[in-house]
Order: sequence, then C-alpha cells, then structure tokens
Amino acid sequence: MQHSEQITVVIFGASGDLTHRKLVPALYNQHVKGRLPDNVHIVGVSRSQFSDEEFRERMKDGVQQFSPEHFDYERWNAFAPRMRYVAADAGQSDGMQTVKQALDACGSDVEHRLYYLSVAPKLYAPIVKHLGTHGMANEDAGWRRIVVEKPFGVDLASAHALNDTIHAVFGESQVYRIDHYLGKETAQNILFFRFANSIFEPVWNRNTIDNVQITVAEQVDVGHRADFYDGAGVLRDMFQNHLMQLLSLIAMEPPTSFEANALRDEKVKVLRAVRPPDPSHTVRGQYAGYREASGTAPDSKTPTYAALELYIDSWRWQGVPFYLRSGKALARKQSEIVITFRRPPHLMFDGVDPNAITPNVLSIRIQPDEGVHLTIQAKEPETTQSMHPVDLTFHYRDSFETSTVPDSYERLLIDAISGDAALFTREDEIEAAWRIVDPIIAGWEKSADAPPLAFYTPGTWGPDAADELLARTGRQWHVGDLDH
Ligand code: BG6
Repeated sequence: MQHSEQITVVIFGASGDLTHRKLVPALYNQHVKGRLPDNVHIVGVSRSQFSDEEFRERMKDGVQQFSPEHFDYERWNAFAPRMRYVAADAGQSDGMQTVKQALDACGSDVEHRLYYLSVAPKLYAPIVKHLGTHGMANEDAGWRRIVVEKPFGVDLASAHALNDTIHAVFGESQVYRIDHYLGKETAQNILFFRFANSIFEPVWNRNTIDNVQITVAEQVDVGHRADFYDGAGVLRDMFQNHLMQLLSLIAMEPPTSFEANALRDEKVKVLRAVRPPDPSHTVRGQYAGYREASGTAPDSKTPTYAALELYIDSWRWQGVPFYLRSGKALARKQSEIVITFRRPPHLMFDGVDPNAITPNVLSIRIQPDEGVHLTIQAKEPETTQSMHPVDLTFHYRDSFETSTVPDSYERLLIDAISGDAALFTREDEIEAAWRIVDPIIAGWEKSADAPPLAFYTPGTWGPDAADELLARTGRQWHVGDLDH
C-alpha cells in the first residue's frame, strides 16, 4: 500500500502584510509555474477570525494587487483549496494546542511541516517555545523546518539569545533564516558571474581592483513603518542583513560546492575578516522631514542613511576599500555593486594622462534594470589616439525570455520546502554580521568621535559627507550611468 505524504506550510502571522503581499503570491506563482508540488498545502494562522473562504478571498486580493502578472480565475480556483485558516493565538500555549489539533487532522500518513514566522519579532520566542512544548518540532512523523523572518535580533546579544531559544527546540539544520536579498536573481547571479566564468576570478583581488561599492538606495521614505523603524535605523534594517550578504557574496573565497554549508562557511569567513571601521570613515544621515512622520520621536537621531568605508583583513583584499551605503528617501530605487579596477600602469598613447582615463568599471545591477555592465576604453573612430569609455552590457530582459524577474520569495519558499538552505543565513553568519554593525551603532550613540548626524534633502543621493568620504581619497560614488 502506498503512503500518502503531505507538506504543510504553516504561516504564523497570516493576517499580516507580508503574507498577502509576498508569501501567498509567491506560492501561487510557483503553483502556476508548476513548481509547487501537488502535495503542498498552506495553513494560515493568526488571531483574526476568518473562515477558510474569507481567508482565501483576502489572499486573492493580495495576489491581484501585488503580483497580478499570473493571475487568472481558473488558476486561482485550482490553487485556493490548498489553503486553510486557523484562528488562534500561537503566542499562547492553548492557542498552539488549537493549531496542533488542526494540523494533526490533515489525514496523511506522513506529514512534513514548514513553519513560517511572519509575526512581530517579540512573538518569535513564545511561538518557538510552544512549538517545542507541544512536540511540534519532533520529526518522528515527517520533517519539521522553521523559517525565521528578519529582524533577527537587534544586536549581537539578542541575536545570540534568539539562536539559543530556537536551538532549544530546533536543530540548526531545521532553521531557515530568511534574507530576501539572497533570493534575488541578481544576487544569486553574483555566484554564477564569479564562479561559472574563468576570466574574472584571476582579477578579483587587490592587484587589479581599486575599490568596491555597494549601494542599496531606496526612493521610498519610512512610510507607515516609523514605529518599528525609529527604534531600528538603517544599520539594523539594511546593513546587518542585506548589505552584509551582498558583501559576503562579492568578497568570499570560491566555495567547493553549492552545498549550503560549503557556501556559508566561505561567507562567514569573510564577514569575520571585516575590520571594525574607523568612526571617522562612517557617515550617518537623516532625511529632512523624517521627524515629522507619525511614530518617530520629535528629536529622533535615528539614521535613515549610512555610508561606511570597510576593509577586509585577508590576503585577497588587503588595502581595498569597500564602500557601502544605503538610505531611504533617496533619488531613486537602485541597488548596485560597482567594482572599479585600477588604471593601466603605463599608457603608450600620446598626450593621454593615465590618471585621467576612466578605469574599467564593472557594475552588477541588482535592481531595477537587472544586469551587468562593464566599461572599457575604446578608440574613437577617425582620431589617431583618442579613446572613449564604452559599455559592454548584459540585461536579463534582452538575454532571457522573461519579462519579469521573479520575486525573491518564490525561490526561497521552494528552497525551504525542498530542504535547500544555501540561500538562508546560518547562525554564525547572523552573529558575524552583528559583530560588524554593533560597534558602529554603539559608537554613533556614545562615542565622542562619532560623526554628526547629517541631514539630507529627500530625493537626493544623501548627505554631502558621503561624497566627502570618497573624495578624500580621490574617489567618487558610481550608480547607474551616473557618477556623483
Ligand atoms: C526590508 C527593509 O528588509 O527591505 C525595508 O526592512 C526595505 O526597510 C526593504 O524597504 C527593501 O527591499 P527591496 O527588495 O525593496 O530592495
């Protein structure tokens, strides 16, 4: 006799924003693309009282609003019955008992479960504990995995404590800490660009690279998230996770395989080699008008922008500055990694100052306009020795038959369902990233040599101090087709 097997994705926080904006649209899109196995079912859990039908309706609105490309009624009607809803307060023991009873009634011989914590961070610990006390992490009846959203702690101590709480119930191999930047196609493409081509790795070091810039610029301001954001700021919200992940993909040594631990061993090594930055090589900014947003303190010093000059103490990267910046209310949404190579050591062309030519610049565009650009020097036609920088380009939209790059949650959810943790952060990576960010935050809050909070006008590229950070060594920021 054949055993029936089911995989249940249990979303805690099912009435929240993330569920109908990202998680269910991602699962629905994967269903449409034929990649969500037929035996995957979804159970939404939250305190709100919904019937299954009401919950499905809400989720349909989310898909139609936030991911309309693949929506049609026939496909939706095939997908919707995979979803059920349980009203319960999973932060309380009796609420978790209700969830357990509903899940145990699934009727399959073997039931695997992916628990997804899409709840306020203060609920992570109670939910994990109740999953433990109700025996719901026990793998006798099928595998059990847990996906933990960001923020993962607010500093090293709290991240460490959260890791301990989780490990009291789940082994590390069951834990999937999500950073949606790792699910972005272009972030993954860094690995293919570096390690599926043989021409870049030999030049990927201090001998040929002058500096590396990582920009994650957002046009949106803090919006309705000020309650959370005012206590966090840009270093906790963006640097500890997304920028550190991009940095580790760019700077790590070649892993021997794509296996989760092989990859994460290399990423953690590079994070551990990051030298704590000199406070005078950091910039903190706040956009004008931030303090008027509802939820912020009237004298808030929370940075909405930061720029850092970091160094990695390794054979490969000694002396190469890594400039990282991110902020809200900037000129436009643009995430990009720009690698500027050294200029040629000698120029044989008459009358050209080697220091005046544009060096080779490689830019990996994470979003939008996903692709890769490489600037090279070319001879200008009908001149004897004049040259001009030109672009070699690759764009996803031109090279692949796909009009849209899929949302990162699609890939990450499927990976978690299939047990591939390569694109999820391991306990030691999270802690290594906090070890970099914590002293900067502490320095800004307490140290006498902390840089002043620099105010910037919304719609610009941030405070002048960020330009000065590079100008003092004769460098400048690059983004898109602009230098500024
Ligand atoms: C989130 C941050 O992790 O990433 C937000 O909490 C930010 O503040 C968002 O807006 C940016 O993500 P993306 O994918 O739009 O670049």
